[in-house]
Amino acid sequence: MALSSYLDAALLHAQLAALSVIGTKPTVPGRTRLALGDADRLARDQLVAWLRAVDLTVHIDAVGNIYGILEPDPRCAHLPVLLIGSHIDTVIEAGAYDGCYGVLAGVAVLRALRAAGVTPPRPVGIVAFSNEEGVRFQPDMLGALTVAGGMPVADVLDLVSTDGVRYGDELVRIGYAGLMVPGSLPIHAYLELHIEQGPILAATGVSLGAVHTLQGISWQRITLSGVANHAGTTPLHLRHDPLVVAAQVIAALRSYAQQSTATVATVGTLELAPSAINVIPHTVTFTLDLRDPDNDALTRAEAHVQQLLATHASAEGVTVHCTPLARFAPVVFDAGLVDTISDVARSHGISCIPIVSGAGHDAQMIARVAPSAMIYVPSRDGISHNPAEYTAPTDLEAGLRVLCDVVARQLGITVTERSN
Ligand code: GLV
Ligand code: MN
Ligand code: MN
Repeated sequence: MALSSYLDAALLHAQLAALSVIGTKPTVPGRTRLALGDADRLARDQLVAWLRAVDLTVHIDAVGNIYGILEPDPRCAHLPVLLIGSHIDTVIEAGAYDGCYGVLAGVAVLRALRAAGVTPPRPVGIVAFSNEEGVRFQPDMLGALTVAGGMPVADVLDLVSTDGVRYGDELVRIGYAGLMVPGSLPIHAYLELHIEQGPILAATGVSLGAVHTLQGISWQRITLSGVANHAGTTPLHLRHDPLVVAAQVIAALRSYAQQSTATVATVGTLELAPSAINVIPHTVTFTLDLRDPDNDALTRAEAHVQQLLATHASAEGVTVHCTPLARFAPVVFDAGLVDTISDVARSHGISCIPIVSGAGHDAQMIARVAPSAMIYVPSRDGISHNPAEYTAPTDLEAGLRVLCDVVARQLGITVTERSN
């Protein structure tokens, strides 16, 4: 009998709904739980309460990652943990599913293990990684990056947020500066269930994706400095307008991406100073998010940005300063785990296709230190990072069932018939 028969999907839906309310405001669409903010603290408190309700051992590490561990037989307690995870921080005006689904589905799987009366042959746990979104602190996927040894804890704690506060100070303020050393928990394998956040599954009518590759990500902040001057009196040939340069570069990048095989380029923030209707701005700062599944193509795109900036800035008499914020190469997930996901889906009669992830995920960091893979469920109309993000309950449940039985297979457990 499958472990998934012990799942309580109704409780997963109820917890997703309850979490989705945290960080909402009557006049603002969606929910906003930026990492280490007040709403993130409330969501963390709620998650910890749910972990305790399943009688899990809760650990918080030094960068605020939250773990809930179902302890095995004491003779197996030293073995590496089978970990299921994702994140509960959000972007600004977010949907309800991104990250939260994966964390709460993990909790549902641990609850199923409890309901089936299984003492697993190794620790099994869930993790909610800190600052996956990277909106408030860069780089993104920061908690997972730290666990994977990609950034020293001291450097993480010294990061300064977009609103000017130190990571370590915020962590103390919200009460999540834990004692565990990130990376000290050896990981046997890592699984992440997530909404696709893109159009592929919805368009093909397939229920699940077995993610085999995750594309590379390059983030930078670009500051262009010109000269503030009077909007009415300054002739065009005397202007040093950084916004004109930004506009030229952004438009040229769209053409570049259109002509490339798979590069995408996004400017998601843009600020002008002094930002007044009748003043040519002296400074423009914007962020650039570049992605491509091919690392060489991503490197070429980065070089092209430099060339565009140099050409247009010099023509306008504007200076350029670029600050790298994140650079992660594409990741190929563990082939054995990806095959297991497809196989378990097949055994349930759930359609599943191999898929490349366009979004960044904690799994992409943990893949550095442990076999990792991801399961995707469809996103209606491919919409995400938007309050309209939606996945049908039946799809959420299909993903949950497959995650649960992949976990059972990894643990090599069989369960007895449900008595009720
Ligand atoms: C996270 O959602 C990202 O892909 O930026
Ligand atoms: Mn996510
Ligand atoms: Mn996201």
